[in-house]
Amino acid sequence: MKYFDFYKEKAVDNSLTTTEKCGRYLKQSDDELNIFDDVCSKLPALTQENALIIDIGCGCSDPVKKLINNSQTYKNNLVLVDSKEMLSLLPDADNITKVDVQFPDNSFVDTYQNKADAIIVYSVFHCVYLENDFIMFVDSLVKLLKSGGTLLLADLPNATKKKRFLSSDEGKTFHKNWSGEENDPEVNWNQFEAGSLDDSLVLMLLMRYRQMGYETYLVPQNKQLPFSNTREDILVRKW
Ligand SMILES: C[S@@+](CC[C@H](N)C(=O)[O-])C[C@H]1O[C@@H](n2cnc3c(N)ncnc32)[C@H](O)[C@@H]1O
Repeated sequence: MKYFDFYKEKAVDNSLTTTEKCGRYLKQSDDELNIFDDVCSKLPALTQENALIIDIGCGCSDPVKKLINNSQTYKNNLVLVDSKEMLSLLPDADNITKVDVQFPDNSFVDTYQNKADAIIVYSVFHCVYLENDFIMFVDSLVKLLKSGGTLLLADLPNATKKKRFLSSDEGKTFHKNWSGEENDPEVNWNQFEAGSLDDSLVLMLLMRYRQMGYETYLVPQNKQLPFSNTREDILVRKW
């Protein structure tokens, strides 16, 4: 099943908490509460009045609910993009526009091109990159930025970062506690791994938009986030 449909099914499954509907483990519910502050620290526009904020693949759990509250405090115009099933789990408000499309959608891109002060795409890229044209996905996100605007392409599960972590003493201890296994995790270098989302892909994205005139940054996640040991974020800023 494609990811977008997979998450529609989660959205309507009443046996799941909102944390689980958004692809996290129940035991990560407390760590999920730290996501919004980390996002906010990376996107100053979230605390600027009248900013246009777009959240692509917003989900329905704590981060987007805090984003909604924050948008009312700072009088942001907030555009939430996800499936109809996910969006129906979120409240309506005058400053919120809900758009139920699978991004990139041509009419959405035409409407919001060069308009966004900040774009949040949290834990969504890995849903797209093997199933859709991931270059068109990120190119279309970058098109939405206005001058001075910033895209946060966040929570990228980087397989090479995971190998580095699991090779470390900290990673070995984490693995044993998480899995309950006695042995060190198996880590293989120098082998073919089809479809791997790894350093090469992350660094390619950083370079791609730099040489097109944007500033790009690879930034870590706060240690208290659900997958911070193995994931990282990209910022793309338009001059
Ligand atoms: C792992 S969840 C993350 C939800 C939320 N961003 C968060 O971090 O709590 C991925 C979400 O992205 C949505 N999604 C996946 N592909 C998408 C696409 N191409 N366009 C819009 N939403 C998408 C899914 O429906 C799902 O709600």
